[in-house]
Amino acid sequence: MTARIIDGKAIAADLRQRVADEVARVKREHQLTPGLAVVLVGNDPASEVYVRSKGRQTEAAGMASFEHKLPADVTQDELLTLIARLNRDPVVHGILVQLPLPNGLDPRAIVAAIDPAKDVDGLHPFNAGRLASGLPALTPCTPLGCIILAKSVHPSLDGLDAVVIGRSTLVGRPLVQLLLNENATVTIAHSRTRDLAGLCRRADLVIAAVGRPAMVKGDWLKPGATVIDVGINRLPGGADGKSRLIGDVAYDEAVEVAGAITPVPGGVGQMTVACLLVNTLRAACAIHGAPPPAV
Ligand code: GUN
Repeated sequence: MTARIIDGKAIAADLRQRVADEVARVKREHQLTPGLAVVLVGNDPASEVYVRSKGRQTEAAGMASFEHKLPADVTQDELLTLIARLNRDPVVHGILVQLPLPNGLDPRAIVAAIDPAKDVDGLHPFNAGRLASGLPALTPCTPLGCIILAKSVHPSLDGLDAVVIGRSTLVGRPLVQLLLNENATVTIAHSRTRDLAGLCRRADLVIAAVGRPAMVKGDWLKPGATVIDVGINRLPGGADGKSRLIGDVAYDEAVEVAGAITPVPGGVGQMTVACLLVNTLRAACAIHGAPPPAV
């Protein structure tokens, strides 16, 4: 039996609709229009695509979108000056600086300069620390999306054995905290982990976020396991000479063993921006003193 395909596209569309409904309500009831500022430095083609998509989806949800494009040779001081201005701007409730930044800019210092109340990426040490302490926090968008996808298969993650492969600040580490909040038993694996295959074989839920194409093989999985593939690896050889996208999981093998699996594309990718809209709405309500939204 082949795995159930987790339809990230449909789940993300549903989430965006629920955000749009809540945005309409806070506009009506609180005269509040949530606003998201996205900062793009340089001209990395993949980042340009992501930023354009974020802007479009922000507007489609009824929120205000502010795009700031800066040249690759912008100085750290100039970027910090822009962030200080966005921190003070009352129509901006969320600030996202697209990563990776060009060489010469210090991403940690830039992220740390963002007002934690507007940190819709959940990367500021204040929010990362609150999440790790089990306190309410703005939380990174991709891990939030992974949790929603996992819960579309398992309404409760209570007691599940979960393995997270990858320990990045953007995905792996916050994901572990979110899974703990859901009462999963969590193992975090990385490049030094011994017997990764054996570890995965014991897991009910495998989440791969390492950035290595097709690394997780079908025979690494327990039959019936749920597999969430965060990888977006661009390889040559797609249609029209373009790159093709490959996940961190060897999909064709895994789909024969898993109980449920996310495709690439069409899985986690769509959820990230949808969760960014959720975070922007939540940040706007908190800053405005309105009750938390229903999403
Ligand atoms: N680049 C790739 N994913 C992300 C993300 O979630 N946030 C930011 N800021 N940059 C990214």
